[in-house]
Amino acid sequence: MNATPCPGPGFLPSVLPMTTSTAYAVHQIARPSGFPAASDFTLVRTPVPDPAPGTALVENLLLSVDPYHRGLMDGGEGGFELDAPLEGRAVGRVIASRDPGLSEGDLVFHRSGWRTHALVTLGVDGTRRLRGHEGVPLEAYLSILGGTGLTAYAALTRTAGLRAGEDLFVSAAAGGVGTATGHIARLLGARRIIGSAGSAAKVRHLTGTLGFDAAFDYHDGPVGEQLAQAAPDGIDVYVDNVGGDHLEGAIDSLREYGRVAWVGAISMYNGDRSPAAPRNLFEVVHKSLRLEGVLVRNHTNLQDELEDFLVPHLRSGRVGTDTTVVQGIDHMVEAFLGMLRGDNLGKMLVRLTS
Ligand SMILES: NC(=O)c1ccc[n+]([C@@H]2O[C@H](COP(=O)([O-])OP(=O)(O)OC[C@H]3O[C@@H](n4cnc5c(N)ncnc54)[C@H](OP(=O)(O)O)[C@@H]3O)[C@@H](O)[C@H]2O)c1
Repeated sequence: MNATPCPGPGFLPSVLPMTTSTAYAVHQIARPSGFPAASDFTLVRTPVPDPAPGTALVENLLLSVDPYHRGLMDGGEGGFELDAPLEGRAVGRVIASRDPGLSEGDLVFHRSGWRTHALVTLGVDGTRRLRGHEGVPLEAYLSILGGTGLTAYAALTRTAGLRAGEDLFVSAAAGGVGTATGHIARLLGARRIIGSAGSAAKVRHLTGTLGFDAAFDYHDGPVGEQLAQAAPDGIDVYVDNVGGDHLEGAIDSLREYGRVAWVGAISMYNGDRSPAAPRNLFEVVHKSLRLEGVLVRNHTNLQDELEDFLVPHLRSGRVGTDTTVVQGIDHMVEAFLGMLRGDNLGKMLVRLTS
């Protein structure tokens, strides 16, 4: 197949003409050192592929950019290859099918993202037909009903076992997993919900729009001190998206028999600053704490349970989808870099159609 790099520096400002015969995919062309640069990527144009027997051709509608993509960009086992389309969660519509399980018009979730068109097979690599709940926007399937929401749901209901009346702290609270954690914890009957985020505007969003009981900007002072002020009586559960000083501060604030659901450590993904291990780890013993990692791929069996739990609240408007949506495949790298920088409120997504 002929592959042509698209001309022009970076990905802005043009919006590429979409035709029925042309496909675009983002390739990685260099390994980032520290924070990635737009020049580590290029947009490649190819003809739209024909589906081989057993596959279906999907036109992608929405694409996800995720913090875990950053780790895969370093290469190594399981990492992204250079000069090949990147991969990630996506939602698209089947436009031609030679897969007996999929029909033209079906909406599917799959993992061949970072491109306009993909060849998929039902049941392979997580490809599934969307349940298509009436009144639920498509964005929900890559945010609160997607891997993001599933991570929060598994962290709260399985790993931490949050009980009604307990107090919760979540870091990166204004992002995808963070906002989903806030919504789900409220529905589960949490008493006080406290969040940290990277700007005053995000703090206002948390305590205003999203109804958090307290929030602080982690740039404004030591996390441990700010958390102690926001939760003077302590917390029962911490959902950790950040690691480093956030985890250390949370361990100080946890009550006896508290639980940490350790979801991510974004403060360390670009090779910067925070120490990997908290200096107060022995408090885990003193306070009989439990610290357990969460990997969403080990909880895919909860997908239907998550949807059954949340869809009525999405329909009623009690829970929102919380997304920041960037338009166009040619802005996908900007969306990814922006998410790493904290430009997003809620889950960062890229929409490919109007
Ligand atoms: N274990 C799993 O299976 C799993 C699944 C999904 C996600 N995750 C993890 O969950 C976390 C959140 O993921 P997400 O997809 O929901 O992303 P997100 O929170 O929507 O976006 C990333 C956010 O991280 C914050 N951030 C960036 N650098 C930071 C730093 N040095 N210190 C503190 N915050 C920083 C930024 O917000 P601010 O403006 O607030 O800094 C940014 O908006 C990540 O650690 C991710 O790896 C894990």
